Amino acid sequence: MGVGEAHGKVILLGEHSVVYGRPALAAGLPRGASARAWDAEGESSLHVTPWDVTVTPSDERSLGKAFGVMLEAARVERPVRIEARVDLPGGSGLGSSAALGVAVLRAIDALRGVERDDASALEVSLAWERVFHGNPSGVDNAMSIAGGLAWYVRGEPIERVRTRRAIPLVIGDSGEACSTKITVGEVARQHEKNRERMEKQFDAIAAIVRNGRLAAEQGDLKALGQLFDMNQSLLAGMLISTATLEEMIGVARASGAYGAKLTGGGGGGCMIAVTEDRAGAEKVRAAIEEQCGKRAFVALLGGEAAG
Ligand code: PMV
Repeated sequence: MGVGEAHGKVILLGEHSVVYGRPALAAGLPRGASARAWDAEGESSLHVTPWDVTVTPSDERSLGKAFGVMLEAARVERPVRIEARVDLPGGSGLGSSAALGVAVLRAIDALRGVERDDASALEVSLAWERVFHGNPSGVDNAMSIAGGLAWYVRGEPIERVRTRRAIPLVIGDSGEACSTKITVGEVARQHEKNRERMEKQFDAIAAIVRNGRLAAEQGDLKALGQLFDMNQSLLAGMLISTATLEEMIGVARASGAYGAKLTGGGGGGCMIAVTEDRAGAEKVRAAIEEQCGKRAFVALLGGEAAG
């Protein structure tokens, strides 16, 4: 049997503009996806918990197509049976499809004794990801493979970001799933219609991301929060925020967060908020749960350079 694991991810700053070559600041989450692989007879199969879906590579559904594309890209010649588990809400901006793809690939590689470097894992998992959304920047896949806190530019290897202090992050799930394909398509439509204006907006976000990296490295969480707010205004201007996300962001700010924004594709999915410390994050988490009736959790990111 082969076993594989992969991280979910959260984008702190720079979603969407990252598709257009601007940088993003992102982090791997401790939870993500896992998979086990066995040799099989006949056709390969993939079963995913908790969705309780089973697909084969000849399946017409996206998951089946992605599985088929992956087996081809990874040159898996003999049939495999995969049992996978996703520990992230789907369509929520936490990179569940990328995490699942990377976990499946790692399980197959472990079963067959393949030693694959990160660049090759990224290439194969991008082939999988393209089935779900046509033009992925690769940030989900890169973070799913690497974990940690990183600076990402499309087509380039990630740069690790070291922070003076851990970043207390609250992640709230609006419970409204939205396909990244839809919001990436919406931004592309606006870009086509008004290229100059959108390029300026992407440049403005790139400046926010650069400042965000400095703030994270220096442990200036207040500045990081202000940059979250600025990034959120620009994302809302691209019409990919929602009333529910705005409500959750408002509650987070009112209960002491330094700043808050949507994360990932938007159009639903998750929001994030940054606070001074863990106690502050727990307070914001509780406020989101009580006042918005939505699920939220706390993650501490980075902090390697602490002490
Ligand atoms: O919604 P998610 O978790 O797939 O995040 C997508 C991030 C985008 O920047 C919106 C798209 C991309 O490919 O980078």
